Amino acid sequence: MITVALREDELKVIREETEAILKNHETERQELIPVIQEVQERLGYLPKEAMQQIAEAMGIPEVDVYGVATFYNQFRLNPPGKHQIKVCMGTACHMMGGHIILDSFERRLEIKEGETTPDREFSLERVACVGCCALAPVVVVDEKVEAKVSPIRVDGILLAFEMQKAEQEKGKKKNPEEGGQEN
Ligand code: FES
Repeated sequence: MITVALREDELKVIREETEAILKNHETERQELIPVIQEVQERLGYLPKEAMQQIAEAMGIPEVDVYGVATFYNQFRLNPPGKHQIKVCMGTACHMMGGHIILDSFERRLEIKEGETTPDREFSLERVACVGCCALAPVVVVDEKVEAKVSPIRVDGILLAFEMQKAEQEKGKKKNPEEGGQEN
């Protein structure tokens, strides 16, 4: 499983937010789900560090917190990527090869569904029907719906992002003050 390295300032926010949430709840086991729901709501995901902190505060094994978090697929264990790719795995999309599309993204990005690339450019997840079955197989990239996606289109989508990033890098080198880089 790919783990995304967190910066010190992010770890600080995680510690402080988790502590604040824990203060508003009893440290009883039955509070576990409401607590992890609130952590995800505030941070956008449920970091491993927060799960450790919760386990310690509640006096329960860390594996129990992890078990609950992975049992319910509402919890995201990795920080969302800059670009979020959601592959529809509803019935129509599945029948039209949604799993092949998911597989293509996994191979191209070298991550599994539910993970984020180490550079945090992309996160990949499977979702239930997004409501446009006639366009199956469907992928939602950031908020844009991609229709009748093929493995070649997967390459095209990712290539477009790579080109966009290369352009931005070029722009930053030309105008370092606009890109926030001083040298
Ligand atoms: S099953 Fe994918 S849009 Fe409905």
